Amino acid sequence: MTDRSEFVVVANRLPVDRVNGEDGRPSWRRSPGGLVTAIAPVMRSREGVWVGWSGAADEELEPFQADGMDLVPVPLSALEVERYYEGFSNSTLWPLYHDVIAPPVYERKLWEVYVRVNRRFAETAAEVAADGAVVWVQDYHLQLVPAMLRELRPDLKIGFFLHIPFPPLELFWQLPWRRQIIEGLLGADLVGFQRPGAASNFLRLARRLLDGRTSGQLAFVGDRVVRAAAFPISVDVRELERLVNDPAVRRRAEEIRADLGGAKILLGVDRLDYTKGIAQRLQAFGELFRDGDLKPGEATFVQIATPSRERVAEYRRLRDAIEQQVGRINGQHSELGVPVIHYLHTSYSRDELAALYLAADVMVVTPLRDGMNLVAKEYVACRADHRGALVLSEFAGAADELKRAYLVNPYDINGLKSTMLQALRAEPAEQARRMRQMRRRVIEHDVDRWAREFLTVLEEPRHLDPPSAR
Ligand code: ADP
Ligand code: F6P
Repeated sequence: MTDRSEFVVVANRLPVDRVNGEDGRPSWRRSPGGLVTAIAPVMRSREGVWVGWSGAADEELEPFQADGMDLVPVPLSALEVERYYEGFSNSTLWPLYHDVIAPPVYERKLWEVYVRVNRRFAETAAEVAADGAVVWVQDYHLQLVPAMLRELRPDLKIGFFLHIPFPPLELFWQLPWRRQIIEGLLGADLVGFQRPGAASNFLRLARRLLDGRTSGQLAFVGDRVVRAAAFPISVDVRELERLVNDPAVRRRAEEIRADLGGAKILLGVDRLDYTKGIAQRLQAFGELFRDGDLKPGEATFVQIATPSRERVAEYRRLRDAIEQQVGRINGQHSELGVPVIHYLHTSYSRDELAALYLAADVMVVTPLRDGMNLVAKEYVACRADHRGALVLSEFAGAADELKRAYLVNPYDINGLKSTMLQALRAEPAEQARRMRQMRRRVIEHDVDRWAREFLTVLEEPRHLDPPSAR
């Protein structure tokens, strides 16, 4: 695979996970998740190349093919994983971009490695992109890549999409390297966000920091025009519908319901992350038992918590706190053989997740801040039976679209309690009314449309002059 490509995706991770076969030999399997599902068909039709990290430290891999995609690995040393991925990406940017729910770490040595690694990604992309190619850079790990790449390869069309929230100026201003990040993003032709508010935050910063002129969605940087706009990401509705139509998945959903003794099921599915509001929802649920609104056996909470970023201190603290909280609530309110919370700290297959979505009476999604939250959309996509209710945080991007969810402010514990009860007790006709409207939105705006719309805007010709030249 030495040919240069007309379409290049650059992301922190490659779209495949290493799996060890029974014979002990490693192979690669496509990673689950919306982004890969959305981009894989475009990669195939355009014979694209994906530039990313394999997920292991100190590993030098040659370009390879897996799942029909051409992959170009970017190596990271153990120190780079610590400072670029766990450090600047997940201890500085992640908390800063999520309302400083945890305090961001501002350390120069983390920043220096972030710059170094971003340069490596940019150089690799520059090597594999054909003349005039389209390069699509993904997410907060790689915000300097657009400008670095433009300097190396001014001929390219460069798009950037941020999967997480983009903070208001008042928070972003804390960042010692705020100017460099904005300049990095302004290297793109199109900067995509999950919500219109995030695009406005970015344009306001561009105006303030760079003396850049802006007009509507456009920023005028030297002789270039940069567009910033919202492209809310979505899920692969067809894949999820296929899963829930599978008789084995349906049987498994029935089995889950039976195993839980016929109790109403409230479900949470999240990476174990402090942005997800897991503690708030569990507190509210526990109080419903304390207050006598619920009895053990009447309702149970299934919380699936995927292990995540476990070497980052805040994530270790969170795990301890949640596990203590689950123990306390179960200790206070469960009966023998009837726990009020089922807590599972593990990753599941797509089939098992689909069965859980089908089994759940109430899906509880309560992030304190979330770019989109695909779990909320996956639940809706799976409920072709028009049953079930979605309790959804106002602070998730998905709330812009899923307006018929039971919307909550997750910081308001009393509000959470009454909303969870309302969702639990909703009449089937009311559930169906709400679910039908939410499904219409998710079906019409699936992940395929998200990718198409972004690339269409990126590739459309632009003949725009700065306002002063008109
Ligand atoms: P984030 O990107 O912050 O993790 P999202 O809700 O947007 O949050 O996306 C999470 C994705 O990970 C969803 O596609 C969801 O199905 C998947 N996921 C979450 N928890 C698990 C789990 N325990 N096992 C397998 N997949 C999971
Ligand atoms: O949604 C943000 C994000 O960082 C994605 O880019 C990623 O797929 C997911 O969270 C999981 O994070 P990580 O790659 O750190 O395991």
